[in-house]
Amino acid sequence: MARQMSIPRTRIVGTGHYLPATIVDNDALAKRLDTTDAWIQEHTGIQRRRVAAPGEVTSDMAAAASRAALEAAGLTPADLDMIIVATTSGDSPMPATAVHVQQKIGADMIPSFDIAASFAGFLYAMTVADQFISAGTFNTILVVGADMMTRLVNPEDRTTVPLFGDGAGAVVLGPATGDNRGILSTRIHADGGLTGLMSVPAGGSAEPVTADALAGQRHRLQIKGRELFQISVKHLTSYSMQALKAAGLTSAELDWVIPHQANRNIVDLISARLGYPRHKFIEDLAETGNTGAASIPIALDGAVRDGRVQPGHAVLLCALGAGITWGAAMVRM
Ligand SMILES: CC(C)(COP(=O)(O)OP(=O)(O)OC[C@H]1O[C@@H](n2cnc3c(N)ncnc32)[C@H](O)[C@@H]1OP(=O)(O)O)[C@@H](O)C(=O)NCCC(=O)NCCS
Repeated sequence: MARQMSIPRTRIVGTGHYLPATIVDNDALAKRLDTTDAWIQEHTGIQRRRVAAPGEVTSDMAAAASRAALEAAGLTPADLDMIIVATTSGDSPMPATAVHVQQKIGADMIPSFDIAASFAGFLYAMTVADQFISAGTFNTILVVGADMMTRLVNPEDRTTVPLFGDGAGAVVLGPATGDNRGILSTRIHADGGLTGLMSVPAGGSAEPVTADALAGQRHRLQIKGRELFQISVKHLTSYSMQALKAAGLTSAELDWVIPHQANRNIVDLISARLGYPRHKFIEDLAETGNTGAASIPIALDGAVRDGRVQPGHAVLLCALGAGITWGAAMVRM
């Protein structure tokens, strides 16, 4: 039976990203934590990361990435119909970071909300935006991934601090124009049986922030790294295949894979299991660390701006985060 090619209804019309100016390399961390540059590089592939300036907040980074994406799209904030921000380290528990972005970029009183799907959040947000545009409800939607994970980790914890960096990435989505460019397929999933793999236990209704919670560092990120590593390899491999198949493509027709940037060793294993060449994986992890929901749009925009990703290229995106949540998407740029 002939393969059905997916017909895109939504396309990416502009991309942008923002990274804070301050660079913190592994040696700087090794001066205050019981770790080494060699350990971090060997176990993660990370060499340095960007860290937000004092006073800088998640919505500042998101707004900067959004302005860059709007400029790339040749649009202004007045053209936007909706803003969705994927973040789990927003400005505050309430209100949504997206409403700060709306104000900072000077958009109209358009619907603006956050999606809490951890590091898979950008793919969740893109999937939601795709529905609104496909249905004809809205024309132009700003989708942002932004995380400031360096403020969510316990600064004394060598098992989490080296993994993360701050940043934001954004895309402007609009209706496809019939040239087969756009979002070909999306697959999003969650397994609430695995909440214990990655969480911030205190700061919500389950455990309000108390002196005890603060003393126990329960308002900070806690991860089970080895388990997350294994499940990332398993799900990102299998669901990437599903997104590819749903788009009616084979791996031979893929131009690039942009995985969530958590760990180089995870990417090595996904490449081996997919049987897809390692040099086709776009990776900026060594320079940025894991930027959470921002990692895919940052890597995508970097590759668009340096010319690796060209109009018409088939790009596979995949990510996994707390929840656990995960997803994959096929996009023709
Ligand atoms: C966290 C991660 C880097 C650990 O790497 P790993 O190769 O799996 O290492 P292990 O967990 O086997 O730990 C090995 C040892 O290194 C130690 N270690 C952890 N961090 C260290 C550090 N920064 N420096 C030195 N030693 C460290 C551990 O304590 C452990 O010691 P032990 O064997 O005495 O208990 C890796 O599992 C990972 O990237 N996991 C997913 C990360 C993630 O959460 N991503 C977000 C969602 S996708």
